[in-house]
Amino acid sequence: MLETLPQVPEDSILGLAAACRADPNPNKVDLTLGVYMNEEGVCPVFDAVRLAQRALVDEEKTKVYMPPAGDPVFNQGMQRLVLGEDSAALADGRVSSIQTPGGCGALRIGAEIINAAAPGARVWVSDPTWPVHIPLLGSVGLKFETYRYYEPVSHGVNFDAMVDDLKRAGRGDVVLLHGCCHNPCGADLTLEQWGTIADMAAQQGFLPFVDIAYQGLGDGLEEDAAGLRLLVQRLPEVIIAASCSKNMGLYRERTGATIFASANPASALALRSQAQVAARRIYSMPPAHGALLAARVLADDELNANWQDELQAMCRRINGLRTSLVSKLEQFTDRDFSFIEREKGMFSFLGLSPEQALALREEHSVYMLDSSRINVAGVNGANIEYLAAAVGAVLSSH
Ligand code: LMR
Repeated sequence: MLETLPQVPEDSILGLAAACRADPNPNKVDLTLGVYMNEEGVCPVFDAVRLAQRALVDEEKTKVYMPPAGDPVFNQGMQRLVLGEDSAALADGRVSSIQTPGGCGALRIGAEIINAAAPGARVWVSDPTWPVHIPLLGSVGLKFETYRYYEPVSHGVNFDAMVDDLKRAGRGDVVLLHGCCHNPCGADLTLEQWGTIADMAAQQGFLPFVDIAYQGLGDGLEEDAAGLRLLVQRLPEVIIAASCSKNMGLYRERTGATIFASANPASALALRSQAQVAARRIYSMPPAHGALLAARVLADDELNANWQDELQAMCRRINGLRTSLVSKLEQFTDRDFSFIEREKGMFSFLGLSPEQALALREEHSVYMLDSSRINVAGVNGANIEYLAAAVGAVLSSH
């Protein structure tokens, strides 16, 4: 029976990361996977996480299952982190959440809830969006429409086109939004534009589903969540998929949360019960380690301050790299790359063709996605010149 299954192509992101790992060229540059890397090219463990881990290992008494909704301290901490300490929705008790295996688990649980409420609902996704959104949500049975978002000529958001397309989204539809640091393009909505989306959702009745996987890596923890907080403030229902992969460096610990801001406390409880049932039929209960670390970091004042300092330093470094990259690329090319500085988070599209991205890989061992999405955090003092020179060489020869 199983022999009928063919081999499938590698994942468009993970496959390239693996190809880069296997490349013996000592000058190779890995700009593929969206993970933070420091000046040494290492994805570091946060100090606060390391301290929390030491304490956890010493104090841990059991490995018994987690409760189905996960760790309550983690859930409370995540709700406050994402919605803000002074969130009226939190004070009104109309928020609930469930701990999930990473941001992917959070998206999947959100999709399960949407499909339970409106089987086969249409989800409007930005063009482009993170490629994994489609199989993650689609395998539940949801359908897709796209709204125009990124405009390659201006390298910014074509907000008029986005609004035009979303005029067709109505009650029973879902609009998937990137909370900050848009993956893959790095072009974000302004707060005023978030306000327009909130007005449209209120008038037209669509449900916003916000994927916030990069909170703290754009402008800061509070600033990056401002758009989604505005939605929660103005609308009765918003679903949020949050992740601790990037902003706490807990990638492999699979730590995330689905947060439901709902019409009233009874609905919040109902949604959490539905989410628990959905989790039970997929993975039963979430893994413990990452969430217990995050819970400590969020709940302990000292660890929290320590974590926020380190996160801010990462954010500053990424923004500094954006500036350096623009000036380096200007030295080696005659193109205007100044848009890189206007974008947020880990990603930018360099605006190269798939053939040029391929030539960079094959001729220079510079790895970026075929779409020319780069992980800005993969740039460092040791590779920036090589990278800019390779881009310059490929632009003039291909
Ligand atoms: C990315 O887009 O590179 C990250 O979100 C990692 C992943 O799982 O794709």
